[in-house]
Amino acid sequence: MSAQTSSPAGAFRTAVVPAAGLGTRFLPTTKAVPKELLPVVDTPGIELVAAEAAEAGAQRLLIVTSPGKDSVAAYFRHDDELVETLEARGKEELAQRVRRAPDLLAVESVYQYEPKGLGHAVAQAGPVLGDDEEAVAVLLPDDLVFPTGVLTRMAQVRAEHGGSVLCAFDVPPEQVSSYGVFDVSDTDDDDVKWVHGMVEKPPADQAPSSYAAAGRYLLDRAIFGALERITPGAGGELQLTDAVAVLIDEGHPVHVVVHRGGRHDLGNPAGYVRAYVDHMLGHPEYGESLRGWLNDRLKE
Ligand code: UTP
Repeated sequence: MSAQTSSPAGAFRTAVVPAAGLGTRFLPTTKAVPKELLPVVDTPGIELVAAEAAEAGAQRLLIVTSPGKDSVAAYFRHDDELVETLEARGKEELAQRVRRAPDLLAVESVYQYEPKGLGHAVAQAGPVLGDDEEAVAVLLPDDLVFPTGVLTRMAQVRAEHGGSVLCAFDVPPEQVSSYGVFDVSDTDDDDVKWVHGMVEKPPADQAPSSYAAAGRYLLDRAIFGALERITPGAGGELQLTDAVAVLIDEGHPVHVVVHRGGRHDLGNPAGYVRAYVDHMLGHPEYGESLRGWLNDRLKE
């Protein structure tokens, strides 16, 4: 498909990655290093998310960044000199890994000048969407969802039901109070639910379901109009979920795909360490020695 042709129903061309937040949970490091560039073993979280978007068919990664975080978009630029140096030293495999991020898909960035919330960050993508782009994917770079493939499934659900499609995890009751939880009804597919609303961090006994929101969205472009109609919530921030609620109220179909897999929250030190250790344990070179060291360390 050429970049100029209309996308088929359900499909999307642009994946928006909001990366303009302050990353306060990782201060003081995030004074100088954007949390999106913190490595999961040797690869920044945002590259893992970019690879997921490319695998699902995205042609363009639109990073929403802030003037102090230009290094996030810079990470996706080609560095021919470095690649040539590595090749000249016979480090072909390393050169390939350096080339991978810029080769994944076209990368552009837009600024969010003030961190006024996730909804406000996503709104910055509106003016740069092509007229024929009926839907846009949004991937939160600090939410690793695995195995990959849920975005492709979400595009299929949009092709079938129209509207917007979000991603959910079925979480145990003791965890619901940490998440946004969907109020849903069943469809004839066990893994697809019709969404009627969402409650932020409900106590377990008041949760409308066990389906918790994850950082993957496939949004109809109507979301940009809805973002203009919402008012700032807590902390003066525009919430993306408030705009989704507006769409639901106005009769737009919203569904969730229940992803039967795992996730890591890279946005806080505890979740980040789990992601790091998990990736490390599966690493062909370092995995075994970490496993041995951890076993010994835990016996102490
Ligand atoms: P988070 O709330 O996890 O990120 O937002 P944060 O605000 O940077 O982190 P803390 O809470 O201060 O530690 C989820 C994603 O949305 C982006 C963040 O960069 C992150 O990738 N975001 C958040 C924006 O782009 N702009 C905002 O105003 C807020």
